[in-house]
Amino acid sequence: MSEYILRSARYVAREYMEKMLREGSIAVDATMGNGHDTEALAQLVGPSGHVYAFDVQEAAVQATGERLAQAGLKDRVTLFHASHARMKELVPCALDLVVFNLGWLPGGDKTVTTLLSSTEEAVRQALSLLRPGGMALVCCYPGHPEGRRELLFLEELFSSLPPQQFNCLEHNFLNAGQDAPRCFAVQKQLNA
Ligand SMILES: C[S@@+](CC[C@H](N)C(=O)[O-])C[C@H]1O[C@@H](n2cnc3c(N)ncnc32)[C@H](O)[C@@H]1O
Repeated sequence: MSEYILRSARYVAREYMEKMLREGSIAVDATMGNGHDTEALAQLVGPSGHVYAFDVQEAAVQATGERLAQAGLKDRVTLFHASHARMKELVPCALDLVVFNLGWLPGGDKTVTTLLSSTEEAVRQALSLLRPGGMALVCCYPGHPEGRRELLFLEELFSSLPPQQFNCLEHNFLNAGQDAPRCFAVQKQLNA
């Protein structure tokens, strides 16, 4: 065996995405960035599914729109130039999956990062929108101050959710230092 079996937070998130989604699924990308996750979600939900994606930066919406157009996936995605804190207002339906990849736009302005206040609001809304059996995935980067605040909030929130309603998992390499990226996977119970 010469391959790594233990994989990064982002890799694990991708694996859960693939497990959760099928033809006709409904998903939200809460942080579209350059559209890599949005495109992957759009492929997974197929022509009869739909993806709703959010970003506060016009550059992200534009880059994602172009990526989707090139891939021929534009008609199964709705892009919102808006904060994910408006998720409940703009996507008022039961969701199979919501993904958050927190932090800043790769190659973009590092000062425009996700902020605890809106992350908190959006994650709570995402949990309330999940269908029974639906999942929220949150990748978090505690190597910068706002990322650490987000991590502490997420650990506290997910630790406090009633196990009758949610299963909550944190993926963390314990010997990689306290700044190692995390992936949280939270699945709503089937009978919740
Ligand atoms: C790490 S990047 C996401 C990368 C993306 N998932 C991809 O595949 O390319 C985080 C993104 O969150 C966006 N963001 C920051 N605050 C936000 C908010 N309140 N609502 C939605 N997006 C936000 C940033 O503009 C940035 O593009």
